[in-house]
Amino acid sequence: MRFKGRDLIELIDYTPEEVRFIVESGLEFKRRFYAGERVINVLLGRTIALLFEKSSTRTRVSFEVAARQLGASSIYLGWSELQLVRGETLADTARTLSRYVDGIVARVKEHWKIVELAEHASVPVINGLSDLSHPLQALGDMMTILEKKGRLEGVKLVFVGDGSDNVLNSLLVAGSKLGLHIVVASPGQLRPDESLLRHAMEVSRDTGATIEFIEDPFEAVRGADIVYTDVWVSMGQEAIREEKVRLLKDYQVNSRLMEAAGDRALFMHCLPAKRGEEVTDDVIDGPQSIVWDQAENRLHIQKAILALLIP
Ligand code: CP
Ligand code: NVA
Repeated sequence: MRFKGRDLIELIDYTPEEVRFIVESGLEFKRRFYAGERVINVLLGRTIALLFEKSSTRTRVSFEVAARQLGASSIYLGWSELQLVRGETLADTARTLSRYVDGIVARVKEHWKIVELAEHASVPVINGLSDLSHPLQALGDMMTILEKKGRLEGVKLVFVGDGSDNVLNSLLVAGSKLGLHIVVASPGQLRPDESLLRHAMEVSRDTGATIEFIEDPFEAVRGADIVYTDVWVSMGQEAIREEKVRLLKDYQVNSRLMEAAGDRALFMHCLPAKRGEEVTDDVIDGPQSIVWDQAENRLHIQKAILALLIP
């Protein structure tokens, strides 16, 4: 397995073995952190640029902290402060940044922008969320599931809500590589990205993973190990808010749904949550919720990713 110098745009570019290795490395970084190794200087003197076109709490802060805990430093670059807004191309921005920094994490509105950055950067480019996908979230989530359930193969993860969600797209790809049983409970009109789903289905044949679509959320969550949801209205979808809320109103994760899922089910959410919409307070604050551990694990998985990819 060779990681150094590679981009992380989409998990389709990584083998099941590589995905598992990243997830296990994340757990190892966490273990070492709690054993007292708060700083592991494997990236001493390196610099990571964080180029963000959309807001972020977890991804931004966890990357900045991850860089420091590896002996590296980070520079946050708000999109609108760069010459990009005056028409400098993404290609020229990528070429320039590559002369200063050792890696670029980018959060973009449209997915093609991250592909374009990666094409022209000579340092690794890491997808920190696009309208299409959020692979870092999926990797952190696989780490959290492994930590909590002790295994990934055969774990039943039920995603309730927006079937076209970017986080779901990445969970499907990651889950298919790691042998999960993923059930999507969503209205029929909201479907995952076709090409990522096709990839996930193909991979599933070799790994024993399964992917199922069940419109009725109560039927879907039966026997779930994980009940997962995300916001109904993602960043950039504000104009279609009413339509999405109308479509998804029966897909709220509330105590009735968690009861149908059973005691074994843990509740996950990538956050930020819109409390009272896709999830109720009693669920997200309740005993089955692991959302804060899930958020913390973004830090440890990203240390693993930086340590592996940055030369
Ligand atoms: N889950 C996640 O990526 O959160 P942020 O939008 O706060 O980075
Ligand atoms: N689907 C959400 C995820 C946020 C981390 C969004 O894109 O806004």
